[in-house]
Amino acid sequence: MSETEARPAQVDRNLALELVRVTEAAALAASRWVGKGDKNAADGAAVEAMRRAFDSVAIDGTVVIGEGEMDEAPMLYIGEKVGLYAKSGGGMRADIAVDPLEGTSLTAKGGPNAMAVVALAPRGGFLHAPDVYMDKIAVGPGLPPGVVDLDRSPEENLRALAAAKGCEVGELTVCVLDRDRHKEIIKACRAAGARLMLIPDGDVFGVLAVAQPETGVDMYLGWGGAPEGVLAAAALRCIGGQMQGRLVFEDEAQVARAREMGMEDPHRKFAMEEMAAGEVMFAATGVTTGPLLRGVRLIPGGAVTHSIVMRSKSGTVRYVEGHHNFRVKPIL
Ligand code: FBP
Repeated sequence: MSETEARPAQVDRNLALELVRVTEAAALAASRWVGKGDKNAADGAAVEAMRRAFDSVAIDGTVVIGEGEMDEAPMLYIGEKVGLYAKSGGGMRADIAVDPLEGTSLTAKGGPNAMAVVALAPRGGFLHAPDVYMDKIAVGPGLPPGVVDLDRSPEENLRALAAAKGCEVGELTVCVLDRDRHKEIIKACRAAGARLMLIPDGDVFGVLAVAQPETGVDMYLGWGGAPEGVLAAAALRCIGGQMQGRLVFEDEAQVARAREMGMEDPHRKFAMEEMAAGEVMFAATGVTTGPLLRGVRLIPGGAVTHSIVMRSKSGTVRYVEGHHNFRVKPIL
């Protein structure tokens, strides 16, 4: 039997709960820095805690979406091996996408929706996206395939979405990162009569929000980080919805880097299923409170965390409330 045959090919469903431990650890560590104005310290704490927590997860994992390249990131860099079997081999071979602190500035300012995020796919499941921008569009579940498209204007997409949802464009809310580069998108959405949720940061939340009715978001539009795009695609694969992304390059060196990372045509549009393929899992723990997750709440001798964990295979979405006792197990 070859080595590949001897390894479990399927994602063990128990792993989903292991992933929550990983995001909980990162969120707990980052939570010490909420509102303290130091986004690098917050990020560093989350990265270190997440790195350590991975040591007990029963996988032979490789980071494919991480904190940067090996020479620029001391931990959780692209290509780093993580997991209990990282050194010995054995266990399931998995590709890992991480954002130990999605929303570093949000955390530094105590703003909403900062979270620790992890996704897992079988080897080769994630798009190896370089750290450039990605133009993104996303809508929630239960809509006709192709109802919106990155190549259509915001007005066209809004009209098609309203028709599919049986409502007026004026009843739709579009989530967009509040950036100068989105001036035209914002103007076009307003001209079409749609409502907007302008977020200061955190577009993993922005994309995920389209699949969570309580957030009130119907569509996500605009440029955000490509690594965040892959993580959001993994989340939507699990919870349902549609997403497309196209990388945005500033110069030829970035295009060359994307080719080096294995992309044949870096300029093309990627479907959600191409960004996160196969049986994927996604977990996120709130650092600060938002419409999706509650942030870490510190209590005497411990903390309470709130996480979401989901699997594409079963479509199960779980919310996990963790009560952590630092007297028994010091985390911070
Ligand atoms: P960080 O947590 O790395 O600060 O990212 C926050 C974020 O808002 C992402 O959610 C988003 O994809 C990206 O930054 C947008 O980049 P920019 O701030 O350059 O517009």
